Amino acid sequence: MKISNISKILACLLISLYSQGAFSQSLTWTEVAPGVWKTIVGAPDAFDLFKVAEIQPNIEAIAKLGKTKFPLATGDIAAEAANCQVSLRFPLDKDEQIFGFGLNFQSVYQRGKILQLHVDHYGGADNGRTHAPVPFYVSDKGYGVFVNSARYIKVWAGSAVRKDSPNAPAPRDRNTDKKWTSRPYSDAVEMQVPAEGVEIYVFGGPTALDAVRRYNLYCGGGCLPPRWGLGFTQRVKTLYTANDAVEEAKAFAEKGYPLDFIGLEPGWQSKAYPCTFEWDKTRYPDPALFVKTMKNMGIRVNLWTNPYVSPESPMYQALQPYLGSHTVWGGVVPDYSMPEPQKILTNQLFNDQVSLGVSGYKIDECDGYDRYLWPDVAKFPSGNSAEQIRQTYGLMLQKITSRLYRQQNTRTFGLVRASNGGGASFPYVIYDDYYSHEDFITALTNSGFCGVLWTPEVRSSKSSEEWLRRIQSVCFSPMAMVNAWSSGTKPWSFPDVEKDVKYYAMLRMQLMPYLYSEFAKYHYEGTPPFRAMNLEPGFTSKAKLEQKAENLNEDPYSEAVLKEIKDQYMTGEYLLVAPMFKGQTTRDVILPKGKWYDFYTGKYAGDGEIIKVTPGLGRIPVFVKDGGIIPMMQPMLHAPTAGQKYNLEICYYGTKAASYKLYDDDGETFDYEKGMYSWREIEIASDAKGKPSGTISKPEKAKPDNIGKVTWKFMLQQ
Ligand code: GAL
Repeated sequence: MKISNISKILACLLISLYSQGAFSQSLTWTEVAPGVWKTIVGAPDAFDLFKVAEIQPNIEAIAKLGKTKFPLATGDIAAEAANCQVSLRFPLDKDEQIFGFGLNFQSVYQRGKILQLHVDHYGGADNGRTHAPVPFYVSDKGYGVFVNSARYIKVWAGSAVRKDSPNAPAPRDRNTDKKWTSRPYSDAVEMQVPAEGVEIYVFGGPTALDAVRRYNLYCGGGCLPPRWGLGFTQRVKTLYTANDAVEEAKAFAEKGYPLDFIGLEPGWQSKAYPCTFEWDKTRYPDPALFVKTMKNMGIRVNLWTNPYVSPESPMYQALQPYLGSHTVWGGVVPDYSMPEPQKILTNQLFNDQVSLGVSGYKIDECDGYDRYLWPDVAKFPSGNSAEQIRQTYGLMLQKITSRLYRQQNTRTFGLVRASNGGGASFPYVIYDDYYSHEDFITALTNSGFCGVLWTPEVRSSKSSEEWLRRIQSVCFSPMAMVNAWSSGTKPWSFPDVEKDVKYYAMLRMQLMPYLYSEFAKYHYEGTPPFRAMNLEPGFTSKAKLEQKAENLNEDPYSEAVLKEIKDQYMTGEYLLVAPMFKGQTTRDVILPKGKWYDFYTGKYAGDGEIIKVTPGLGRIPVFVKDGGIIPMMQPMLHAPTAGQKYNLEICYYGTKAASYKLYDDDGETFDYEKGMYSWREIEIASDAKGKPSGTISKPEKAKPDNIGKVTWKFMLQQ
């Protein structure tokens, strides 16, 4: 047995002995960044989420959010390390709601939930098993809590009642008391971490969005994708050949559909499940030529892989000293918490693919299922437990591949099926096989609470209606993608809605300057580009609608918001997106306080109220906040390359004086980290007669400048 393991067991025994009768540790909170506090309970694991992600907190940006007080009464937080377990308790107020705990698919409100945070594919229930079970929750009281552990954390998010609680509910007689409830009031979030100790972070506000921003910035800021990453992407059928892929790219061009990158699925590799990590020479006889041919058409190549290494892989021998005890589909499982296998993988990817110009990866199957992944009794040569490796495998693969691209000074944007706390800065979007459109939108809504990106990918559909509805949603998500690995669908597969599909694919391209600026705000300011309504000012579960219709006795607004709102979300600063699902012709949209306008017409839509919309199949409802400035690009089939000028049409909505920060850099490299970027100020002001006009600041000297002609569009004034 290794010395470190013996000392771990001894420490654990000591803590257990010492804690007979249980002790509650008094906590010391250290402010590690403005409005971010850390405490240590017991003896934390050396291997934790923040260390795996190698976070580099952006303290300067956090400081810009201002100082704030510790958001909780420190005496209300309890922690105890005993019997190799850490128990934690955080207070909850009577009317407090909490969000987060990772990528949930069916619920936004987490109060009352019992979860075990466990990396896994999503199995149809919000029970903690998900692609990104991030141990971070945010409260509508304006703070967040992060538990920095790579263990399976159990959470009772306001479900249990302690006998010494100052708010303990009085017992009721079920025989006679109608108010009896099986779930009496609980005033705490309790957690159990199966470890000898743990680090905990508290993120201050003052708002919930500020707490999320501090968390994202503490993780280094959200990722900044390359511009092309925000374009349209198509994943082709598994056994496509180089010729098939080139033909497909040509078809996009001929039909006038935008395409920035094509994803090759398992068949690009000589063997898959387990994988060889090398090209299949029959389907791709000249990979360099193939990648170059695609690049000449303005299209990048993304490659699917799963992490399990085939005995026929060129990496197989070199990996031998660094393998876990179990196999997956006959493939070996490298212990990527060690530096040596990281290097072996990096070299293989670089020499065989990245050096040819491959733009990124789709890292599949690093999440679950239990029935084919390694069990918790598996052993890994680093000494890290099977549980810790499971919780971080996706995170480690994102780190290794991101670092490889960074070394080339080239940005990547890829897909991954597992992530965890600390991963906000990795340029990866999560996806999965579960195909509920409604739940995909809830996941998009929740992604903004936990520093991850999610795509409601489109694969196939039973009808053209469903196809178009899904396409409309995915165009308002971090990655506009058709994943045709099995179906072979193309954007034009449903001819009767082809025109509308093309309209949305092109709209996605036109929105690129807006989306790119919003991603820049994710990176520099921590604001998630896709987020729940609950993070939007003026939207509150306690907000009351001033009754407008005289015949309304009830308050429809508060009634609706008592239900969680999980089918509409914000895209960037100004756009409220309310997807339609198959079978729906009309839906309610909750507009937060303040005036809102129809995105397509500029028409006034409402103010702090529920509106009913019947948009027709050709439209996904989108609304713009008063004073909304949406910089749009001329329609283009590919994202502008570094230095390529594009014309800008700046659309303005509403009546409020407004300003917008438009971000610009080369869109491809990391030179922005050396100051090679700029923010252009857009201002809208109205004259005495209320006629608006706009200005945009001059490009900064010696800074990237992609903006050509600027025109203005003042959407219909009301
Ligand atoms: C699945 C993945 C799909 C596709 C497929 C290829 O695991 O979720 O998107 O890549 O593998 O075999």
